[in-house]
Amino acid sequence: MEIDKKSFKNKINFLFTADGSAGLYNMEVDDVYHSVYGAKSEAIEKFIMPLDFEKIFFNRKELKILDICYGIGYNTKALIKKIIETKYIGNVEIDLLEYNLNLILVSPFIKDGFFKTYPEVSYALIQNLLHIIYENKDELCSMLNKSTNKKFYEPFYRHLIKKFKNFRYNLYPREKNNAFLHNIYYHCISHSMKNRLKYLKNKNFVITPHIGDARQAVKELSGCYDIVFLDAFTPAKQPLLWTLDFFKELYRVTKKDCMILTYSNSSSVRHAMLESGFFVGKLFDKENRNCGTCASKNQDYIKNKLDDFDLGLMKTSAGVYYIDKNLNSSNDEILKEHEMRKQQLQLESSSQFIKRYKNNQEHLNEKI
Ligand SMILES: C[S@@+](CC[C@H](N)C(=O)[O-])C[C@H]1O[C@@H](n2cnc3c(N)ncnc32)[C@H](O)[C@@H]1O
Repeated sequence: MEIDKKSFKNKINFLFTADGSAGLYNMEVDDVYHSVYGAKSEAIEKFIMPLDFEKIFFNRKELKILDICYGIGYNTKALIKKIIETKYIGNVEIDLLEYNLNLILVSPFIKDGFFKTYPEVSYALIQNLLHIIYENKDELCSMLNKSTNKKFYEPFYRHLIKKFKNFRYNLYPREKNNAFLHNIYYHCISHSMKNRLKYLKNKNFVITPHIGDARQAVKELSGCYDIVFLDAFTPAKQPLLWTLDFFKELYRVTKKDCMILTYSNSSSVRHAMLESGFFVGKLFDKENRNCGTCASKNQDYIKNKLDDFDLGLMKTSAGVYYIDKNLNSSNDEILKEHEMRKQQLQLESSSQFIKRYKNNQEHLNEKI
């Protein structure tokens, strides 16, 4: 798949979400990148809190993380914050999968709600992404200075990038990069945060972006991931990263004690996860509402198992999973094949099942 450079300018709109963090809306896919209730809060609630980081991951010597559909990086940023907060001492490797290079480029500079209290999050990203920032600095500068979007970027970074591009750092690239980082270090990090930053600088912290179709990128990864974030667009619109075959690849590249997290509650997604060999469970938010799905090869990591209702729903037409045998079909091809298979299978519809299930429950309650 070709690297998507133009789409950022043409089809993606910024908006402020309810917690004050910047979010995006994609007009072509007609889908939001982030919850309008809060891009930052969503990442914390759906991808970080369910990890139970202190209990499950804190004692590991190293952490390998795969952020599928990095976008402007909220899930990775929230995880970096967690790592700093808990003073996790092991090595950290994060692989970012995203086909829109421009999103990766602007990600450290967004008004994301981390800047005031956790500027190290941005620093860690800039430090690791510096080579692509440097290679694309003209593009980045014009994106950061586009008048309609200015308010969605941290002003401090906008000015710095301008300097980075225009003057001062006219030496050979290595020195330019160092001077740029040095500036961020001294201007951005207040005295009280220096210790936290020192900790981040001293540890082995590697972030690697993989720009292109996540399916191809995953095929080339060798694996052993502890944590996987899957944050693709809605399955019914873009099934490409929710297929049985993609989950089989995720099974191949994850550790036994892994945790995969996604916001999707879709029965077809859960079915594909189960079919590829994972144990699958539900995620709940603060109001005890179902807010996503987790998968692991270790049954003990599944706090909220799927119940009879969820398993029943999986046997209806809503539970038919998507297929992409060679991991190279288009969204339309996957949707078309899915529709044909659903017609052949002639399964009960989800609404019929829900009605039947409710009736059965009422009869049971009457008997009690
Ligand atoms: C719902 S948004 C994810 C938001 C993101 N996690 C964040 O914090 O900003 C989905 C993202 O997936 C990317 N994407 C969609 N299909 C992809 C594919 N096949 N390979 C790689 N990235 C893809 C889009 O460019 C978009 O940034």
